[in-house]
Amino acid sequence: MKAVVVETPGSASALELAEVERPEPGENDIVIDVAAAGVNRADVLQRRGLYPSPEGAPHWPGLEVSGTVTWAGDRSGHAVGDEVCALLPGGGYAEEVVVDGSLALPVPERVGLVDAAGLMETVCTVWSNVFLLAGLCAGETLLVHGGSSGVGTMAVQLGRAFGARVAVTASSEEKLAACRGLGADILIDYTMEDFVERMTVEGGADVILDLVGGSYLARNIAALRVNGRIANIASAESGSAELDFGALMRKRGTIRSTSLRARPLEERAEIVASVGENVWPLFESGVLRPVTGARFPLADAAEAHRLMESSGHIGKILLTP
Ligand SMILES: NC(=O)c1ccc[n+]([C@@H]2O[C@H](COP(=O)([O-])OP(=O)(O)OC[C@H]3O[C@@H](n4cnc5c(N)ncnc54)[C@H](OP(=O)(O)O)[C@@H]3O)[C@@H](O)[C@H]2O)c1
Repeated sequence: MKAVVVETPGSASALELAEVERPEPGENDIVIDVAAAGVNRADVLQRRGLYPSPEGAPHWPGLEVSGTVTWAGDRSGHAVGDEVCALLPGGGYAEEVVVDGSLALPVPERVGLVDAAGLMETVCTVWSNVFLLAGLCAGETLLVHGGSSGVGTMAVQLGRAFGARVAVTASSEEKLAACRGLGADILIDYTMEDFVERMTVEGGADVILDLVGGSYLARNIAALRVNGRIANIASAESGSAELDFGALMRKRGTIRSTSLRARPLEERAEIVASVGENVWPLFESGVLRPVTGARFPLADAAEAHRLMESSGHIGKILLTP
């Protein structure tokens, strides 16, 4: 089968379409004929040689796909012909993937097979961090940094769907308008406005979904309400910063930081099951929708990565074999 591999880590041109061996499935696994694969920031890091696939996963990138089951192990919980989307430890940039059945869910009604490719990584990340760990409740205020990103567009919708007031930061009017369309109430262009000052005027954030790290540690604590929770999922600016325990203590604040891919299979499967139970019905009732910003053929994965690195997109970028 064909897959997009990285022989020599580096720029987007390092992504090459190549012939690879399909991994052998086991009795818990399914084989999916891929309709589309989601592109994630982590794939850019992997391409640069900074975030290799974990042991046992294919060495080529790709954390999520949608498609049709062509083979199902006896203990996989799925059947041949099912249309599914799946969370992967790697290997999604391919014509076919093999994945443990516990990491796949049926494509929700009302969602197209291709658009479904962009759901698993974003929904599982937001659900596990903002809801399961940070415990966002109805009536609280959620601040989403990077509100127009793949993860951000899902966080805005989920926050709104569960009754929170949602604030976002983004770098342009167009991105903020997209966030407003998804249900964001407080729009902050962080290139023009200090989010700490604005959030202070707005009464502070109960939960902050952070992907910036670095100098945002102190600023996020300043923007929190008492008993606030920070859910960090990336460090676009820097992975280290000085923590002022006094400032955190005055807010009685909590900071958690997790990576979905690094979690044991059982934990990822629990998150997927919880998403299936709590979030999928909201796609089926039309409350939530996938936000696909761009589609590229699999062979043009380099173009897709260039778009992501330019931050010119809103929502998800997808690859179609
Ligand atoms: N820990 C995990 O398990 C996990 C899982 C999935 C994703 N992630 C992380 O979550 C982030 C989003 O992922 P994605 O795939 O959705 O990527 P993406 O669509 O490329 O989004 C990245 C976003 O970062 C924003 N950004 C950069 N600097 C910013 C700043 N100072 N303030 C506010 N926004 C800023 C950019 O928006 P602007 O143009 O507005 O700056 C862009 O929308 C990535 O950093 C990714 O690594 C983590």
